[in-house]
Amino acid sequence: MNKVPLLSCIALTLVLVANGAPTLPPPTTVLQYLLRDLMEVQNKLKIVSERMKKYELYIPSNTSSIENLQCFTKELNPVAGALKYESKDAQNIQEYINNINVTVNSLMGPEITQCHYASKMRIEGFFKEFVSVCQRFMH
Ligand SMILES: *[C@@H]1O[C@H](CO)[C@@H](O)[C@H](O)[C@H]1NC(C)=O
Ligand SMILES: *[C@@H]1O[C@H](CO)[C@@H](O)[C@H](O)[C@H]1NC(C)=O
Repeated sequence: MNKVPLLSCIALTLVLVANGAPTLPPPTTVLQYLLRDLMEVQNKLKIVSERMKKYELYIPSNTSSIENLQCFTKELNPVAGALKYESKDAQNIQEYINNINVTVNSLMGPEITQCHYASKMRIEGFFKEFVSVCQRFMH
């Protein structure tokens, strides 16, 4: 029997697994994608303009269940808008933000219609909080 088709089949499977797209991964994995994208944004935010660093966002007060992550992503629209004034990496950050949004939307659970917000934080603090809430759901 010719081995080539089998090998390419394995290779294809590996590619599909690496991309993670075709089947819905289990929740822990989804959260891992989310965390990875959040950390990418955190890294990129280190080099944005001072004005962008001063950008403030509301922190959700209720983070008791995984659906509440939507309350973070609801805050992201103005960020994506403000980023257009950034010269470097703006598009890149916007893509990550878009991914984060899509990932959170894909997490199971009903849509949250009412989010309550406690305080405002600078963008860096906002993402730090987002990361720690995400990490809490991974354990
Ligand atoms: C927090 O959000 C969850 C999920 O939407 C909801 O079930 C719960 O009642 C909320 N808690 C408070 C204190 O608002
Ligand atoms: C996030 O997704 C929602 C629902 O698809 C959409 O309305 C919203 O504009 C998106 N926000 C960003 C920042 O991409």
